[in-house]
Amino acid sequence: MKHLIANWKMNFLNFDEWLKDFDHNNISEEIQIVICPNYLEIKYICKTLPKTHKKILIGAQNLSSEIEGPFTGQISGRMLRKIGASHSIVGHSESRLLGEDDETIANKMNTALECELTPILCIGENQEEYSKGSTEKKLKHQLTENLLPIQNLSGNILIAYEPIYAIGSGIAVQKEHLKEVSLLIKNFVRDNLATDLTVIYGGSVTSESAIDLAKVDGIDGFLVGNASLDPKEFANIALSLER
Ligand code: PGA
Repeated sequence: MKHLIANWKMNFLNFDEWLKDFDHNNISEEIQIVICPNYLEIKYICKTLPKTHKKILIGAQNLSSEIEGPFTGQISGRMLRKIGASHSIVGHSESRLLGEDDETIANKMNTALECELTPILCIGENQEEYSKGSTEKKLKHQLTENLLPIQNLSGNILIAYEPIYAIGSGIAVQKEHLKEVSLLIKNFVRDNLATDLTVIYGGSVTSESAIDLAKVDGIDGFLVGNASLDPKEFANIALSLER
């Protein structure tokens, strides 16, 4: 099973129009598509989609580390589950930038699993760390802090490798780098958690870059920002995962 996640971020988008232009007929059932719209649209999309696109799932772009209580402005994983979401992005670099620390992210991972949401944990180095050759150190640090505190590994977890310099830059990472990183993540997970987790890639994935990136060993899907706003482009990315 491959995974293709659309991260619509805080973009204005007419969902009905998007859906009309999203031709999913040729997309294999072996590709799990998950759309992550803004919180306000999740309920509507969860109600609309099953009528036409039964196989597409809906995710949130974040969730609270708490399940219930006096947390003004926060959205609970249990609320998301209740309205039909099945996934949540956790620890996206754009959320980390706003002050989410590693401990909070680990708590969000636990909360997501407790609420029966599949967390999509985003990790990745920045440009400076990449240039200094400290990619491995950074990823191991994030995996140790964000993944090892998970108390119950029984649910699904996706790990999205998203190097910060590749996000929104128009330039995806090199295949060789991605291959090394996917191996590093898989080995870390095997050695420390005695299990296998799905690793996907995010950062300027387009229908063009996807053709090569989809061939990288150990990469089983994409997390797509900009290019997912265009339904035709997004469908073409899905097709590249089938090759
Ligand atoms: P991008 O974003 O595809 O626009 O680079 C990816 C992401 O931020 O998840």
